[in-house]
Amino acid sequence: MPNSAIPKVSSTASPTSHKHTKSSKKPAAPDVITPAKIAWQTDDAGNQAPVSGEFGDVYFSHADGLAESRHVFLAHNNLPERLANLADKQCFTIAELGFGTGLNFLATWQLWRELREQQPHLANARLHFITTEKYPIPLADLTQILSLWAQRAPDLAELIDELLANYPPLIAGCHRLNFIADNITLDIWLGDAGASLASLATFDNLNNGSAIKRPYIDAWFLDGFAPSCNESLWAESIFAQMQRLSRAGTTAATYSCAGIVKRGLQAHGFSIKKVKGFGRKREMLTAVMAGSADSLPDSLAQNDDNNICVSPHPHDHIPSHTVVIGAGVAGLLTAWTLANRGMTVTIVDKVAPLAGASGNPRALLAPNMTPIHHVYEHLHSIGYLYSGKLYRYFNQQAALQQMPLILEQTGTLDLLIKTNIGTAQIADYPDEMATTITAEEARQLSGLNIQDLTDNLYLPKSGLINPQALKTLILKHPNITYQQLSVTNIQEKADKVTVTGDKKSGGASDNNSQTPATICADNVVICAAYESHQLDNRIVKCRTIRGQLSWFTPTTEQIARLPKLPLKYSGYCAPFIGQHGDAEINYINEGQPQFLLGASFVDADASIDIREEENQQNYDKLLEDIPELSSVLPDDTSAWQARAGVRTQTIDYHPLVGRLAQSRRIWTLSAMGAKGYALAPICAEVLADMMLGCFAPLSAVMLARLSPNRARLHKAQKATI
Ligand SMILES: Cc1cc2nc3c(=O)[nH]c(=O)nc-3n(C[C@H](O)[C@H](O)[C@H](O)COP(=O)(O)OP(=O)(O)OC[C@H]3O[C@@H](n4cnc5c(N)ncnc54)[C@H](O)[C@@H]3O)c2cc1C
Ligand SMILES: C[S@@+](CC[C@H](N)C(=O)[O-])C[C@H]1O[C@@H](n2cnc3c(N)ncnc32)[C@H](O)[C@@H]1O
Repeated sequence: MPNSAIPKVSSTASPTSHKHTKSSKKPAAPDVITPAKIAWQTDDAGNQAPVSGEFGDVYFSHADGLAESRHVFLAHNNLPERLANLADKQCFTIAELGFGTGLNFLATWQLWRELREQQPHLANARLHFITTEKYPIPLADLTQILSLWAQRAPDLAELIDELLANYPPLIAGCHRLNFIADNITLDIWLGDAGASLASLATFDNLNNGSAIKRPYIDAWFLDGFAPSCNESLWAESIFAQMQRLSRAGTTAATYSCAGIVKRGLQAHGFSIKKVKGFGRKREMLTAVMAGSADSLPDSLAQNDDNNICVSPHPHDHIPSHTVVIGAGVAGLLTAWTLANRGMTVTIVDKVAPLAGASGNPRALLAPNMTPIHHVYEHLHSIGYLYSGKLYRYFNQQAALQQMPLILEQTGTLDLLIKTNIGTAQIADYPDEMATTITAEEARQLSGLNIQDLTDNLYLPKSGLINPQALKTLILKHPNITYQQLSVTNIQEKADKVTVTGDKKSGGASDNNSQTPATICADNVVICAAYESHQLDNRIVKCRTIRGQLSWFTPTTEQIARLPKLPLKYSGYCAPFIGQHGDAEINYINEGQPQFLLGASFVDADASIDIREEENQQNYDKLLEDIPELSSVLPDDTSAWQARAGVRTQTIDYHPLVGRLAQSRRIWTLSAMGAKGYALAPICAEVLADMMLGCFAPLSAVMLARLSPNRARLHKAQKATI
């Protein structure tokens, strides 16, 4: 929280950095992030406070920024009482203008933690904190700033560590951070606040009597620098967005009583009140959106074409039981995400979990990069960043249960043989996400000796997913039940949905007999990949692209000369060690080294027989791109192991995520293409947000692109019939 009134005694900043003017640096393109330049001010009492180089104002009060944050934003949005009174599974949403050092967020998180410890009924309630930041503070500066708070307020230390450990790379777009143990979600939208708020999807133009509604912000933290040094956070367009995103009873608080703030709030539906400011400050402002909560329209619903999401009213029925059809990575992540939000989930598969494309021995988590100015709407990059965080969280859970790791973070070296990005564009990325290493470093990491490695893309946080370990961990969730069921019919009624199918019955001797079975639920999510359209013809029929992975057990001599980490070329290869559980779905022994090569592409083919010629293709692709491995690989591939699966792809390459047209209870998450392990976690978050009426971590434009009802797909399908 800025405090321009504090005398500037001394500063370690450059002479220009605390002038009340914007940085003289050439403005970056709006979708490329300019990190904050931090300077320090010391007051008479020796307190140090960070100062924004862009705006020349302090981020928070030297004297006691934490107490001020609690006074202005927490107390004057009445958060202690409102949060304590949340109903079971209810989500409370806060939006902040200006994330800065994260101090307001930390204070809110700490309050939420305390309330949850004291009030068992909050076990399934959720806090969603959405914040915006145009000039994010680099991690090194943030670490320095927050370490001061860890000393001054030791009760924040643990939260600070967690925030820093999850702080995103400074690239544009929404970064979702889930602090799962505390049921708190932090969405950091990097970019201009006006654009970020405009990206938040809410929909209110359909009235089909749905039991669920659009999302709203419950409380606003208006924490821009003083309007005198930064007008952008107090602009008309910001107040207009606040009005769009608020409902009767939504509150706002700010330290500023400037006329522009008072007028802006009043002109956009808020009643304002001046109250006593913090400490020696005479006044601050609180506001509430006028009107009564009861006067809100009852049945706001969804525009099917554009993936309109709808949110629960405090008194609305929140769905409690969902059936997920298909236990591949899409279904498993959907089940886990809903279960993690307190829902009961029954997941079914006609064969078994991971029976489809998801059951490969390992999946590579490494993005196809895009130039950085596209990254904020590049689903694959967004999915890569989010899924990496989730898989690392799963790793912690797996370690506690002495299970194999879900993500083996090996790093990946891309030889840039088949890519749409060069080293100049890679250099635009933060190194922690993507970088080019020296040829010598590449040589040492990979073990390759002859290949020209000058141009490369190194992804330090990428690695190999162990699908079997992921499945085992997810199915242990207490809210998830798995059963084998081949679904044949889905019936939607006003108050429920009924899923019917055939269940295998009898013992081993009676393998083929089936008995009918039925499950009733509030919602169903179809995650049946290329078979999804058979369950509901509102889902388009997708392209089927067969692929076969190959692997073999290398000798000790071969291991010494094979690549030491995953490599991407026109295919990909990776060494790995068989883990406990692998043998359940693939021919792999625990503890045995393996070398994997992927993968063939056969369009319009949905068969999964093993083909010797496709092993040969995987072999040829590797040797064509990296000829030095010809002396290492066995030239006879006939003894190789292999697994074939079907990639499901839409004509525009985007997955299908959302509710089906004219339906209230039938959803889909499918068409994951060749990147299901990167896409499923973020898509499952989006789907859960839509089902529960929360703000999604993707822009409204992107949600429209993912809608299963998007006109483009359906027009194309009609044209082919
Ligand atoms: C060779 C190959 C290599 C790949 N490599 C990678 C990689 O390295 N990284 C990566 O991220 N992605 C990779 N992919 C892509 C990835 O595997 C897919 O995107 C992902 O598995 C799709 O997951 P899914 O859950 O949608 O489909 P699936 O895993 O196919 O799951 C669909 C499930 O639905 C079930 N089902 C269907 N109909 C019914 C019904 N009527 N009733 C009940 N159940 C039903 C099926 O039995 C199946 O288990 C690869 C794919 C292939 C083929
Ligand atoms: C007073 S500081 C916020 C302090 C912060 N809430 C905290 O807890 O540390 C104001 C923040 O707004 C950011 N900001 C300024 N203009 C912005 C804009 N147009 N869009 C988004 N953020 C902006 C600044 O970079 C700065 O971090």
